Amino acid sequence: MKDLDTVARDQVLVRNVHEGDLDALVSIDAAAAGRRRERFLQKKLSQALTDTGIAMSLGAEFDGHLVGFLLARVYYGEFGVMEPSAVMDVLGVHPDYRGRHVAAALVDQLRTNLLGLGISTLQTEVRWDNPDLLSFFQHEGFTIAPRICLDLDLARTRT
Ligand SMILES: CC(C)(COP(=O)(O)OP(=O)(O)OC[C@H]1O[C@@H](n2cnc3c(N)ncnc32)[C@H](O)[C@@H]1OP(=O)(O)O)[C@@H](O)C(=O)NCCC(=O)NCCS
Repeated sequence: MKDLDTVARDQVLVRNVHEGDLDALVSIDAAAAGRRRERFLQKKLSQALTDTGIAMSLGAEFDGHLVGFLLARVYYGEFGVMEPSAVMDVLGVHPDYRGRHVAAALVDQLRTNLLGLGISTLQTEVRWDNPDLLSFFQHEGFTIAPRICLDLDLARTRT
């Protein structure tokens, strides 16, 4: 493997993810999220690969190793909105490869793919206590959506 300091942005290979990438996705995500989310990622990956038939989930490789990924989906007519839009569910870059524009390359490729399908909006959600993701998204041009997310505690509010 090359000295990481010599790795430049144009050495990132962005490709579609496939079923065989699950273990790598779980490892990268565990390093990012602090816990292994195997079933969650298996479900999301399977949804991403089969629901739309459109390749919206991408992996980033250095020297043949998957070091980052994102999982996204396309929606048609959700929440009463007729225009198709895309949602990014998960994004993660292995800690050893951060700061080398891996995530930016993934988002760039997703943007190209979505625009090619005539989709002009990408939505995502981020925990307010995840400053890394918030800062990255802000840097990429994401803005606060004109919607309010609501949660209902079903058990607590049961009468
Ligand atoms: C956020 C994250 C995806 C960024 O990945 P990355 O590959 O290091 O980001 P990039 O190198 O592509 O950054 C692109 C730009 O965003 C900026 N940026 C990235 N992370 C940043 C941060 N934490 N604070 C401020 N700016 C940041 C970079 O400085 C860079 O700017 P530049 O082009 O001016 O140099 C990565 O840190 C990560 O995986 N964090 C954990 C995510 C997580 O919690 N996932 C689980 C829940 S989905």
